[in-house]
Amino acid sequence: MNHHLECIGCGAHYSSSEVLYACRSCGDLLEVRYDYESLRESVDTSLWKARPLSVWRYEELLPLDRGSVKVSLGEGGTSLHRSIRLTESLGLKRMHVKNEGENPTGSFKDRGMTLGVSKAVEIGAEKVACASTGNTSASLAAYAARAGLECIVVIPSGKVALGKLAQAVVYGARVVQLEGNFDDALRAVVELAQSEIGLYLLNSINPYRLEGQKTLAYEVCDQLGGRVPDTVIVPVGNAGNISAIWKGFQDLNQLGLISDLPRMIGIQAEGASPIAEAFRRGLSRIDPVPNPETVATAIRIGSPASWKKALRAVRSSNGLIETVADREILEAQKLLARLEGIFVEPASAASIAGLKKLVEVGAVSSEEEVVCVTTGHGLKDPEIVERICEKPITVNADQNLIKRALGLNR
Ligand code: F0G
Repeated sequence: MNHHLECIGCGAHYSSSEVLYACRSCGDLLEVRYDYESLRESVDTSLWKARPLSVWRYEELLPLDRGSVKVSLGEGGTSLHRSIRLTESLGLKRMHVKNEGENPTGSFKDRGMTLGVSKAVEIGAEKVACASTGNTSASLAAYAARAGLECIVVIPSGKVALGKLAQAVVYGARVVQLEGNFDDALRAVVELAQSEIGLYLLNSINPYRLEGQKTLAYEVCDQLGGRVPDTVIVPVGNAGNISAIWKGFQDLNQLGLISDLPRMIGIQAEGASPIAEAFRRGLSRIDPVPNPETVATAIRIGSPASWKKALRAVRSSNGLIETVADREILEAQKLLARLEGIFVEPASAASIAGLKKLVEVGAVSSEEEVVCVTTGHGLKDPEIVERICEKPITVNADQNLIKRALGLNR
């Protein structure tokens, strides 16, 4: 076994065979650590090149036993769109959109779930569970179905976008809507996992899930022909993804496969921004937001579980965490759709809105090569479009009326 679990607080080590979601001695978050010396010898990038661009292209860097079943739906391998029209409109020279909405269930969560659910099968779990603002539950439900496992999801009532709820239900998950917000749902499901034998928790406090999500960094480097972007911008909610992506770049660096590291920039919605606030004030702790509120329901989180990993990622990469207003998020959603043909959900548009704001204040320069991660597909939350776009025109089937309505009859 070339990996173990390590506490990010006190450094305690645990065997990879333990099912643990927090350090037993200090309660802090865990991460998967490798023996990089032995990996340096076993990783052969020519093997990677022979495989399709996907999460499993990098299987030597994923903590699943050889011979274990891979529960896969074809995740990863998402496009890195060179976004020329958007780049020009923002006054930049080179920017790309890594569109995670192209994943099988329409969000980046699939990268984590292919590994997390494979792990669940490997350890003989019978049930999997998560709390979710929607995408995690949609993804877990799909991968659980694929693996033949029972799936339980706990979501905040009334605040999950319809498309995501539909996904969880159709894949056969047992859905519990909780009176309360995501933070309450996470607390409830963690407690459930502690008392229910055979139930494997797949929120991002499970360090294996983040190992799947780190592959986004590997793909970006491959898609840029081995180049490392100067800056990577990621929407932040529970803060697992930015931590995972940073770990991916660090892995490549430790293995000697890249020599530079990008700046990691996280974007939170103004009404749910405890990490940005801690960053702004130079604090090493967050003050949870008791009643988080934002139109970007995916990142409507007041007490992010992985805040410490996220602060570490931005501080050690010389990056930052910024906030954007709901209005800026919705404007960016429309801008991306109309300039690039990429339809993302509001939380995803936070990365674009954040970039726009940071260029305007000079915190990102026009010389930087930027990758914005858009995390989920726009069709997950179609109702929001009614709020940002004009309504379709209704007319009788008469050419003159159609032309007049379209302004074509001059
Ligand atoms: N974007 C989308 C579309 C998301 O669904 C999420 C998180 C994020 C960004 C933020 O990622 O939590 O790793 O910082 N959604 C979770 C869920 C919380 O339950 O689906 P994060």
